[in-house]
Amino acid sequence: MTSYRPFSLDSLNNPYQQMEPVIAHRGASGEAPENTAAAIRLAAEQGAHWIEVDTTISAEGIAVIFHDSELKRCSNGAGHVAQLRLSELKALDCGSWFSPQYRGENILTLAELLTLCNQLGLNLNLEVKPNIGRETETVWAIRTALQQVPFDNSLLLSSFNHHALKACQQHLPDIARALNVDAIPYNWQERLEEYQALGLHFSADFFDAKLVQQLSEHGIPMACFTVNSPELAQTLWQAGVLSVFSDYPYRLIQTARKANQWHNH
Ligand code: G3P
Ligand code: MG
Repeated sequence: MTSYRPFSLDSLNNPYQQMEPVIAHRGASGEAPENTAAAIRLAAEQGAHWIEVDTTISAEGIAVIFHDSELKRCSNGAGHVAQLRLSELKALDCGSWFSPQYRGENILTLAELLTLCNQLGLNLNLEVKPNIGRETETVWAIRTALQQVPFDNSLLLSSFNHHALKACQQHLPDIARALNVDAIPYNWQERLEEYQALGLHFSADFFDAKLVQQLSEHGIPMACFTVNSPELAQTLWQAGVLSVFSDYPYRLIQTARKANQWHNH
């Protein structure tokens, strides 16, 4: 097998060099409303140094932090995120659906999220969830937010979406990219080369120890979502997965510390 080396970024631009075994998935989203300031602050309090959040755009093209294309699951609103203007999105309550104690949490703009991460010293995996057909506009909105709020810490972009990754490559070429997939594809080299992606993020539901070993032997950084079980996390770390996305970062940070994984990466 020929040795595959991913597209080269120098170490300063390679966020995987700073990556730790646990990434707080949408913040500490098992214990606070996902993708809100409350979930991000809680993750930081719990010792996480990395968070993952999802970003999409408002009607007028401002990058905001939200997972679903529709508002109903995680807010008191209805309809599509991308059809509302920022002022309308900001009026929504994004906390009460989770618990009354979080009433008043509002949708974050990406600029606000970057400011919060800078304040808390958090590294960031920004997952691009573009509105379909507005992928390039979504990436432009990310670029605008990064121009407004220069980011102090490690930053990694990722997406499942072909057009979004291509737009990241074109419009944010200096920021490292990862390819998100459900299962690791057999043509993973080709797929990574296609986007000049440094890393591969895949679903724990499709964990394949042989493929993970193969990528590991080629030095491809891998992260796996969504892992809330300490046993599963240990299996993945031992197989060669660098990091796991967890809704319960506190739990898995304790596991990593006990398993001596915290500083082994
Ligand atoms: O970025 C990793 C993970 O968040 C991908 O899936 O649906 O939780 O955004 P999802
Ligand atoms: Mg995500």
